[in-house]
Amino acid sequence: MKILITGGSGMVGRNLLEKSQSLSYEILLPTRAQMDLLSLSSIQRFLKDNKPDCIVHCAGLVGGIAANIAKPVEFLSENAYIGLNLINESVKIGIKRFLNLASSCMYPRNAPNPLKEEYILTGELEPTNEGYALAKILATRMCEYITRTQNGYLYKTAIPCNLYGKYDKFEPTRAHLIPAVIAKIHNAKQQNLKEVEIWGDGSARREFMYAEDLADFVFYALENFEKMPQNLNVGLGYDYNINEYYQTIAKIIGYEGEFCHNIQKPSGMQQKLIDNTRLKAFGWNPKTTLESGIQKTYEYFLTQQGKE
Ligand SMILES: NC(=O)c1ccc[n+]([C@@H]2O[C@H](COP(=O)([O-])OP(=O)(O)OC[C@H]3O[C@@H](n4cnc5c(N)ncnc54)[C@H](OP(=O)(O)O)[C@@H]3O)[C@@H](O)[C@H]2O)c1
Repeated sequence: MKILITGGSGMVGRNLLEKSQSLSYEILLPTRAQMDLLSLSSIQRFLKDNKPDCIVHCAGLVGGIAANIAKPVEFLSENAYIGLNLINESVKIGIKRFLNLASSCMYPRNAPNPLKEEYILTGELEPTNEGYALAKILATRMCEYITRTQNGYLYKTAIPCNLYGKYDKFEPTRAHLIPAVIAKIHNAKQQNLKEVEIWGDGSARREFMYAEDLADFVFYALENFEKMPQNLNVGLGYDYNINEYYQTIAKIIGYEGEFCHNIQKPSGMQQKLIDNTRLKAFGWNPKTTLESGIQKTYEYFLTQQGKE
């Protein structure tokens, strides 16, 4: 099978490439210069020249809360155009299988936890990343319509929880919780700081899956694509609180200082946990423990010191 992976330079794309090396697929991994997903002609040219059997769509404008708040126009319009352009052109050229990556951010902000796939579009979205979520919902619905109306076409969506791992971003302006805390505690250890501050009381819960596990899921899904549900949450199905992330990371880094809580600062939603009932029925489970995922991510972080 010839698989086109979009977003190959990103965290998910690089984990997919690494995973594919032990498998017998032909992988196409165009750079943005080879296939710019904001340009219809660029997409048409690349698809026509390379004719993949299947697409795994991981490209997009991705960022934390600060970036989403600062650039709502870009997060909505770029992600919407990228998704619609690629999906439409893939159908036109006759690509029968398409695995779209969405995100658990697209669930309504007040939906009950754990978040079930059928909760999509049942309530108001989280305002801080509404544009990004709307674009993800658009692509997810497009895939549903295509599977329903185009005979022989399977366009399906995986909905990952938060991810972390090798190739993550550690700069404070772009990092999500785990890489941000790794960088913060590493610096505290280097500078012999006695204390590290945690925003809020640390009781908010978060679900983070190791990105290599998502890569494992993607190839499992491609092997079992017919029986994959149309929309499928991909995560752990359990979560940890913020204090537990800090403690685990401190243990791995060997930081022995204290933590203090700044309850004047916001800590975001209390919980965002996916329901993994369909995932378990599909027959896939994540394999990496929090300790071993953080250990490997920290080793990667150390290799990047001085490069960023
Ligand atoms: N990271 C998470 O925690 C998380 C959680 C749930 C879902 N996801 C989803 O997983 C997917 C991958 O996320 P990620 O963390 O790997 O993101 P990432 O590291 O920011 O990578 C994004 C990728 O998209 C590419 N891209 C952006 N605009 C493009 C364009 N116009 N044309 C071609 N390529 C373009 C980037 O290429 P350049 O290098 O050229 O910029 C990069 O390769 C996304 O769909 C995201 O929504 C991520």
